[in-house]
Amino acid sequence: MYRNKFKKKKVFIITGASRGIGRALSAELARSDSTLFLIARNKIMLEKVIEEIGQNTCAKSILFDLRKTKQLEKIVEDIFMQVDFKEIESITLINNAGIISPITLAGGFKLEDAVDNLKVNCIVPIILSDIFIRKTKDFKGKKIILNISSDAAKTPKEGLSLYCSSKSAVEMFSQCVSREQSRYKYGVTIYTFSPGAVDTHMFSELTKKAKEDLPNVDSYVLLSNSGSLKHPRKVAKEINRFIREKLDT
Ligand SMILES: NC(=O)c1ccc[n+]([C@@H]2O[C@H](COP(=O)([O-])OP(=O)(O)OC[C@H]3O[C@@H](n4cnc5c(N)ncnc54)[C@H](OP(=O)(O)O)[C@@H]3O)[C@@H](O)[C@H]2O)c1
Repeated sequence: MYRNKFKKKKVFIITGASRGIGRALSAELARSDSTLFLIARNKIMLEKVIEEIGQNTCAKSILFDLRKTKQLEKIVEDIFMQVDFKEIESITLINNAGIISPITLAGGFKLEDAVDNLKVNCIVPIILSDIFIRKTKDFKGKKIILNISSDAAKTPKEGLSLYCSSKSAVEMFSQCVSREQSRYKYGVTIYTFSPGAVDTHMFSELTKKAKEDLPNVDSYVLLSNSGSLKHPRKVAKEINRFIREKLDT
């Protein structure tokens, strides 16, 4: 199965690639010198993304529920077995997958939903980063981790306390690891990127909530109706520019 190892120069691992920002970003990163490993649960949507990317880029879909955190190490191992590290110049992990639910005030959480939120938004990017750092220790090319963050990491929002705090934790994690890794000659560089308000499934979930769960729901509806939400493709271009700049320096 792994006999034909991918030998393109830039490798990207993107979580949450089946829709929204991750989907647009996968299409944006697709170049003839790139290899993409795309992770999400929805098979049909991921296949569409691969189709969209076309034939010029190596793109492989990995159907996986990130909440299965015990299997994360194996997922990364499987990916790395397909990468010929002698042939590539960079490897980039983009922790993009995220969930906004449960959208409700503290006091009304269901344990399972709260755990899912913290897992997908916080534990997964942290553990994937940890595995990535460990398993690329001997690789001397560029190593980048980009954690997709949010203004919510810095601005308290009623009804979104889990989302805000999970994003906030990843911001601080990224800052700590950035300092740690700067001690090494061949360390990983880790960044966060806040895309602003984007017209995706995630944002539409906000507009459907009741005031008792999301007291400021009107402001989200207003924002959505005003036409000022960013298109995922625009954000994907911004992220692509950001990453390419880091890869080229
Ligand atoms: N939209 C905004 O306004 C906005 C603003 C700031 C930050 N962000 C951040 O941007 C990132 C992308 O958000 P988006 O707006 O593009 O959201 P989205 O359209 O809802 O897409 C979320 C992606 O995450 C994947 N995902 C969710 N749970 C998963 C799981 N358990 N296992 C594997 N994949 C999972 C989904 O794929 P499957 O369902 O196929 O698994 C999907 O591809 C998130 O980190 C979000 O916090 C978004």
